[in-house]
This record gives sequence, C-alpha cells and structure tokens, in this order.
Amino acid sequence: MIYLDHAATSFPKPDRVLRAMDDFARASGVNPGRGGHRRALEAEAMIDETRGLLARLFRLSRPERVIFTLNATDALNMAIKGLLKPGDHVITSVLEHNSVSRPLNRLEREGVITVTRIDACPDHRIDPADVMRAFTPATRLVALTQVSNVTGTIQPVGEVGKIVRDRNALFLVDAAQGAGVVPLDMQADFVDLLAFAGHKSLQGPTGTGGLLVGERAELSPWREGGTGGDSESPVQPSGYPHFMEGGTPNVHGIAGLREGVRILLERGVERVLAHERKLLSVFLGALNNAGNFQWYGADRVIAGRGGEGRVGLVCFNLTGFAPAELAAVLDSQFDIAVRAGLHCAPGAHRHLGTAPLGAVRVSVGIETTEEDVVTAAHALNEIAGA
Ligand code: ALA
Repeated sequence: MIYLDHAATSFPKPDRVLRAMDDFARASGVNPGRGGHRRALEAEAMIDETRGLLARLFRLSRPERVIFTLNATDALNMAIKGLLKPGDHVITSVLEHNSVSRPLNRLEREGVITVTRIDACPDHRIDPADVMRAFTPATRLVALTQVSNVTGTIQPVGEVGKIVRDRNALFLVDAAQGAGVVPLDMQADFVDLLAFAGHKSLQGPTGTGGLLVGERAELSPWREGGTGGDSESPVQPSGYPHFMEGGTPNVHGIAGLREGVRILLERGVERVLAHERKLLSVFLGALNNAGNFQWYGADRVIAGRGGEGRVGLVCFNLTGFAPAELAAVLDSQFDIAVRAGLHCAPGAHRHLGTAPLGAVRVSVGIETTEEDVVTAAHALNEIAGA
C-alpha cells in the first residue's frame, strides 16, 4: 500500500516509536504517581521528560504547563471551554477545522459568546490586518489554525500573535497539522495556548495530543478527578499539570510520543518541511498533464515557488470524478490511500469553492519516499488518460 494520508495520521509510525512503546509497556507501563514504587516513579519521569521535550520544541518556558490530552480536539475544547465566559467575543477564520468551529458555534448559538469569522485571501492565508479590524472591546480570544488541513497553507501566526498581544487578548493556535513540520515558538510568536495532535507529524500513536498553556492564560479545569497526590483536596489541586489532568494518562501512547518528538528534535523540523515540499514538487513533476486537474492555486506555488508557505499536503479534483470516487479508484485499483471529502473543515472547502463534495487530498510525511509519490502520479496519469 502507498499511504498518502499523513495529514489524517502518520503511518507507519517510525520503528523507533513502536519499539519505545513496546519497551515501555514491558518494563514500566504502570500508573504514574499513583504509588511510590519504582515503576510508578519511572512512568512519571517518562511523562515529565516528554513534557520537557514538547516545551523545548514549542519554546514554552514552563514544562509543567504541557497538558496531555486525547488528541487536538480534546485540547482545543479544553482551551475554548475552559477560557470563555458569557459576553466574550472571539475572532476565528473560515479555514478552521470542526474541532475549533464546532465548540465556538455551539457557544455562539447558546448566546454565550459572539464570533467573527475572517475570510481567507485568494492565497488561502488569513490577512493579519483583517484580524486587527475584527477586534471589539469584548474580544477575549483569537483562535486560528497554524496550517490548514485542506489548503496546506501556513498562516502568519507570529504577525497575528503580535496583534493579539498588543490588544491584551489571548491567542489560541490549532497546531494539529503544523506541529512537527512547521516551526512554532510560543514566545516569539506570542502564542498563549497551543493545541497539538501527537499522532500526526509528531509521529506518536493515536490517543495522544496536548495543550500548552502559556502563563497569561487562566483556564478552568476541563476534566476533574484523581491526580495521584493531594487526594484529600475536595477540588482539583491548583498546581499544573494536575490542575488540568484528571485520571490515568495514556502512558503507553506518551512513551511513543516521547520517541517521536526525540526524532523530530534530532532531525530538525525545517528538514521535515523541506522533505515534504520536495515530495510535492516530485509528485507534480511526474504528472503528464497537471492541467487535467484543478489545484486551487497550489500547483503554481509548488512549481513556481518551491512550495514556499505550504506543508506537504495538496487538495485537487479531476473533472468527471467526484472526489470520493477518485479516492476509491486510487484505493481499490492502485492500493493508494488518500482522503477525499470535506476533511472536517467545511468552511475551508467553501472558501476553495469545493463544497459540498470537497476534494481529494494527498498528504506526505517523514516516511514517504519519492517513489511513493511518483507511483501515485502515474496512477493519476492513467486514470486521467482513461
Ligand atoms: N484532521 C484530520 C484530517 O485532516 C483527521 O484528516
């Protein structure tokens, strides 16, 4: 199988990640902090080391404010619902994934908050000047994606962050698609809350993700319960990370995530990004006639500007095929896995003009080879020529 659906989750996970999970599960996969015995302490130390690695990757000064969650959706809900109060105004964009837009839409429909949704420019980026214009005296939060999972464009996080900081609001970045492939520095980019998926470019298993909580953000706890210590306290202990982390954590998953983050820190995020861009240009170059497809501008950026401003995912359509139909042909006749449809981000597809059927998305990862993308291009040549 040729797997070109890394934007949904990276697959296969690197051998090092799989081995790290297996080793950890056999040697010390117990409940951390729930006992004073050595294995429990080892498990806790492993989790704390992972917090430290993630804090280093995203430049958060206080590793105890790295909160482990089930996935990016969980982290985004934790941030949005833990922060917003009646009367707050939120600025967001049409490019957001449902994990940002659905919680906001519900709070808006219930009359708790008001929301301004910024449109994207023709190059699929948000204009920071539009964010500036959308501020009201009640704006408490700006919630934006770092990288759209549909258009693949990298958003001007640092520029928006500066605007948000100058206006004393909080900045939540959905880094589900960008973490591990696009550098992000919470301090230099003025990010207060960063939600990430552990299972995409960070190479961890599904069931891992997290929220990094900067010092300006005060959240209410999202999930209250056992923390291993402070059992006498009638309410959630106020110290991080336990304030935000009730219940037994996903120790096996976090052991895999630790190894994934180590790999990225060794390799360097910029190199991962360069690898992905190279693959997209090889893919495009191997098509007999790229003009047979609708690329929504991505082809020009990849061919003319080396993929600048993008990650390794591209959406397209082929005249005469519904997106789901083209993906099914690639799967059943060529054993190539891609994702078609709206990608849980209907606003982004409305922006591209591809709603309601969506588009076919090819997405690459660190394990993808040039041979993989050339084979996929040849399959598309054959389908387009048939
Ligand atoms: N958000 C993931 C995707 O884009 C699952 O496929």
